[in-house]
Amino acid sequence: MAANTPIVRWGIVATGKISGWFVEDLMLSDWPGKSANHIIECIGSSSLDKCERFAQEYVTQKPKPTLYGSYQEVYGDKEVDCVYIGTPHSFHKQNCLDAIKARKNVLCEKPFTMNSAEAEEVFAAAKAKGVFVMEAVWTRFFPAVKTLQKMLHEEQKIGRIIRMYCDFGLDIDIANLPESSRYKDPALGAGSLLDIGIYSLTWGLLTLAGNVGDKAEDPEVASTQTLSDGVDTSSSVVLKYPSTGRQGICTSTTDFNSGGDSFARIEGSKGYIVVHGTTAASPQRFDFYPKDSDAKVEHFKFEKPGRGFFWEADAVAHDLKAGRLENETMPWAETLRMMMIMDGVRKRSGARFPVDDCRFLEK
Ligand SMILES: NC(=O)c1ccc[n+]([C@@H]2O[C@H](COP(=O)([O-])OP(=O)(O)OC[C@H]3O[C@@H](n4cnc5c(N)ncnc54)[C@H](OP(=O)(O)O)[C@@H]3O)[C@@H](O)[C@H]2O)c1
Repeated sequence: MAANTPIVRWGIVATGKISGWFVEDLMLSDWPGKSANHIIECIGSSSLDKCERFAQEYVTQKPKPTLYGSYQEVYGDKEVDCVYIGTPHSFHKQNCLDAIKARKNVLCEKPFTMNSAEAEEVFAAAKAKGVFVMEAVWTRFFPAVKTLQKMLHEEQKIGRIIRMYCDFGLDIDIANLPESSRYKDPALGAGSLLDIGIYSLTWGLLTLAGNVGDKAEDPEVASTQTLSDGVDTSSSVVLKYPSTGRQGICTSTTDFNSGGDSFARIEGSKGYIVVHGTTAASPQRFDFYPKDSDAKVEHFKFEKPGRGFFWEADAVAHDLKAGRLENETMPWAETLRMMMIMDGVRKRSGARFPVDDCRFLEK
């Protein structure tokens, strides 16, 4: 790698499942297109014991990171360039605000916050302090997704884009989980929409809009949700782009494992594309079926060691090196668009979180 390759020294906040996946990926020595180096500088957890077990399981680098029994010590660590936040949704706002207050750059797991009002608060704080913040929508950084977007929107591979659908379904035995589970407790943001429906919606936005953030059109939205104890177990969202008439159906459920092989289909005037992967979060390949049935089906495959979190981490490294506050693939306005769409879906069905205040209802 070139001598001026950026390096990020990460401070990891929380030692749950997703933090483990993120750290494990950054411990790999190489990945396709690797363009930055990553060091786990420190890890913070609610308990030092937990932190030690986490480091033992996931961190292979030398020297070992500093381990803390609190998140605050991560924000205060002068060696940290960027804080990675892997707590449940409901803590994202406060974790981001605490990190920003300490003038730390932030990569925060999806969903960025519980609602759009919280997201606005975090971005205002980041702007005031002049620090970088990004929602960790890792899928958008996969080479498979970048290639697909170029094909759809620049090369017009499927011609005029007409429709898409995307589904993400998991079979989670919610009834038998403890009341404190983030899948069950509305105070922790429980429900399929914010957990996995956000990926189906991400596919809707990235295949139909052709742009992101302020440069993209807002879709019209219709939706319905099935609620159990106030928590959505299934969500179906229809998007329609007023200027082009493009439509998308984006679904999620925690009641059925839609697993299988393909999760999305994008249809156009010259053919259609089917996207494959174990889930909508992690695309592995896609196939193009030309309208002319005599033409050959084209297969597009992508190498992916590990899970694929390193690509978003590389993007952050380049943003920090360039002194940017936002990432161009996942800018603040795109996070706000997603949060507003999900606010609207929950408002229509009556799914409320305790943090939804008058700002949520008024918007
Ligand atoms: N990008 C992806 O593909 C992906 C996949 C899964 C999850 N996520 C997102 O990542 C976030 C965390 O999900 P996860 O599956 O990693 O959750 P998890 O396994 O339950 O871990 C969350 C961690 O947050 C900390 N925490 C602080 N207060 C907590 C509380 N009251 N209840 C539970 N945990 C608490 C704990 O770490 P300490 O005890 O160490 O402080 C816990 O281990 C969610 O927002 C989720 O949407 C993203």
